[in-house]
Amino acid sequence: MNQLGIGIAITGSGSATPDVAVDNYQLSQVVETSDEWITTRTGIRQRRLMDAQGCLSAIASQAAQNAIAMAGIKPTDLDLIILATSTPDDLFGTASNIQHQIGAPQAVAFDMTAACSGFIFGMVTAAQFIRTGVYSNVLLIGADILSRWVDWSDRGSCVLFGDGAGAIVMQANECDRLLGFELRSDGTLNKSLQLPYNAQVKEIVNGVTVSQGTYQPITMNGKEIYRFAVQKVPEVIEKALFRANLTSGEVDWLLLHQANQRILDAVAQRLKIGADKVISNLANYGNTSAASIPLALDEAVRQGKIQAGDTIASAGFGAGLTWGATIFQWGR
Ligand code: UT7
Repeated sequence: MNQLGIGIAITGSGSATPDVAVDNYQLSQVVETSDEWITTRTGIRQRRLMDAQGCLSAIASQAAQNAIAMAGIKPTDLDLIILATSTPDDLFGTASNIQHQIGAPQAVAFDMTAACSGFIFGMVTAAQFIRTGVYSNVLLIGADILSRWVDWSDRGSCVLFGDGAGAIVMQANECDRLLGFELRSDGTLNKSLQLPYNAQVKEIVNGVTVSQGTYQPITMNGKEIYRFAVQKVPEVIEKALFRANLTSGEVDWLLLHQANQRILDAVAQRLKIGADKVISNLANYGNTSAASIPLALDEAVRQGKIQAGDTIASAGFGAGLTWGATIFQWGR
C-alpha cells in the first residue's frame, strides 16, 4: 500500500481471437516445415489469423467489453484506456478508436509499444496513474495482429506467431494486489528481433529528400532470443518477487508471455516452480505478442483455474529488447 492508501485490484479479464485457425499441417504447405518440428521445438499446434477485412480495434474492443463485464463496471466508468500493441490499425494510435467503439467517452486513451512485453509495461504504467490517485478505473488491452508483418517465407519465424487480444480492468482498491514489479530494456540486441522501417528516398523539391518507405516483415534471431529469455526472465521474476517479499514457492501460477513451451518449462525449472503451476495455451494460439499474457490469464480465470486471491508471477519479454515481471493477486 502506498502513502495515499491507494492499492490496486485486477477485477476483470476478457479476450478475443479471430475465427480462422491454421494448424501446423496447413503451414507445411506454406514453408518447408512439419507438425513434428513445430510441436517439438515450440509446443504450438495452431494459431488464429485475422483475415484481410479484420482490424485490431474489433478484437481489442471485444476483449475490452468482456473484461469490463467481468469487472461489473460500465464503459462510462473508465478513466483511462491503454492499448499495448505493435500493430495498430493506425500509426497515430488505435486506442481512441477502441474508446469510441466501446462507448467510454470520459476516458483518455493512448497506445503504447513494448512489443511482447507491452502488457506487463502497460500494467505498471496503469498502476502509476492509480497509485497517485489520478485515475481509479483503468482498462488495459494487449492486442496484436502480427500476421500483418510476418515474413510468410521465413520458416524460422512464421510458424511462431498468431493474432489475438486480451484485456484487464485495474481499479483503485483498499487492498493492494499488485505486489511487485521489475521492468528492463536493453538495446544492444535490438537487431535480434525487429519490424524495421525501411526508408525509400523521395525527392520532393530540388535537393530536398524525405523518406517514404514502409515497415519490413519481422526478422528474428531465434536462438539469441531464446537464450535471452531463459536467462533474463527468471532474474526479473526473482527481483519482482523480492520486492513483493515473496519466494517462488509462494507463487500459485506462473504466467509467462506465450512464446515457446520450452521457454516456459526452462523458466519454471530455474525458478523451481512445478509444471502444474505453469499457465500455457500457446498450443492453440502461438505467440500473440502483447495479447499473449491477458489471453492466457482470461482463459485460466474463466476455466476456474485461477481463483480470487491466487498469487500470479507474470513476465513478458521480446523485441527492444524489453522484459519485465509483475507479481499480483487476482481479484479484489
Ligand atoms: O516474443 C519473442 C519472440 N521470439 C521467440 O520467442 C523466439 C525464441 N526462440 C525460439 O523459440 C527458437 O529458437 C525457435 C523455435 C525459433 C527455433 O528453435 P531452435 O531449436 O533454436 O532451432 P534452430 O533455429 O537452431 O534451428 C534448428 C534447425 C535448423 O536447421 P539446421 O541448420 O540444423 O539444418 C533450421 O533451419 O531447424 C531448422 N528450422 C526448421 N525446420 C523445420 C528452423 N525453423 C524450422 C521450421 N521447420 N519451421
